[in-house]
Amino acid sequence: MAFKKALSSLIIALPAVLGLVVSPRATCPDGVNTAKNAQCCSLFQVREDLLNNLFENECGDAAHGALRLIFHDAIGIDPQAGGGGADGSIATFNETELTFHANTGIDDVLDTLGPFLQKWSHILTPGDFIQFAGALSLTVCPGAPQVKFLLGRPAPKAASPPNLVPEPFDSVQKILARFASVGFSPEEVVALLSSHSIAGADDVDSSIPGTPFDISPAVFDTQIFINVQLRGTLFPGTSGNQGEVQSPVRGTLRLQSDHLLARDSATNCIWQSFANNQAKMQSEFGAGSSSSRSWVRTLRNDLIPTPPPFTGTASFPPGLSHADVEQACATAAFPNLPTQPGPPLVVPPIPQADGS
Ligand code: HEM
Repeated sequence: MAFKKALSSLIIALPAVLGLVVSPRATCPDGVNTAKNAQCCSLFQVREDLLNNLFENECGDAAHGALRLIFHDAIGIDPQAGGGGADGSIATFNETELTFHANTGIDDVLDTLGPFLQKWSHILTPGDFIQFAGALSLTVCPGAPQVKFLLGRPAPKAASPPNLVPEPFDSVQKILARFASVGFSPEEVVALLSSHSIAGADDVDSSIPGTPFDISPAVFDTQIFINVQLRGTLFPGTSGNQGEVQSPVRGTLRLQSDHLLARDSATNCIWQSFANNQAKMQSEFGAGSSSSRSWVRTLRNDLIPTPPPFTGTASFPPGLSHADVEQACATAAFPNLPTQPGPPLVVPPIPQADGS
């Protein structure tokens, strides 16, 4: 917990240290935006570039990758092993960090984001860029929570130590212990995993890149918590992949780690509590259930637009129902949701950012 607090207070204190907190608000040179300091004015330009040219205003592969990147950068810190956390080391020291098995696929993310990171390196440090891109990625995904952003992370000093990023074949105990070592409770871990609602895998089964984790990978909804609780019946591609278990819908892939977190007694009731509660998921994502701050939660300001709202209803995929739920929580029943109409789905792959 001490590390989490230290990390948070460092993030919060830095702008003051760097003299970036200036008031009152002034109109930026673009004549449209207002900000409390000139550096924030230039961030509007970066924002427009990322939204229009990196994400192309879509909750697609580039946005998903930007969100995954903040996690893989930020988790690179440990009370014993060291590391700088959300410092951009995953980009600056990519020659080292990309050799870590758990960072498989981050090379593609850096290929996509890297040119933008370079282009704006006179304005944002690598750590700030990754956090800014990650916060903005959510704003193109309907239903996503609004997160906060604060400027001022120093340049990274060294690569993260190895073995700090969780693997999909890790046990629940190991995953929770890793997060606990940097101050995250089981509730906060499950809330963060709502990210897998806008996600898929390229490398877990490399024969089927871009395979989503739920039926709506372009919407930040609670489907991930529903899909993962359903009985797995098929592999979308090949069987026998490390870190993969059977999923309930053709075209979707289930991580073993998500599967176990939905069933383990330490987390199953928490997992279930999000299945029918979009508002809870939004408010607890990154904010944590305690008063302490986490790496994804920084200062809110008008740089980060409000994501489009979620307009659907929590529901079972077509052809599936409450009878297909593997009830795990011992103290409450999984909610009885409506079933989406139509024949069983075959969810298409997420188009890749490199056009493949
Ligand atoms: C228990 C911890 C976690 C494990 C074991 C895990 C594992 C994985 C794996 C194996 C993939 C697929 C990679 C590939 O083959 O392309 C993935 C994708 C992803 N993860 Fe996680 N993850 C965890 C936590 C998180 C957290 C906390 C976040 C966000 C804050 C996150 C965000 C994402 C996103 C957005 C993707 C999709 C990337 C894309 O589609 O390009 N994950 N995760």
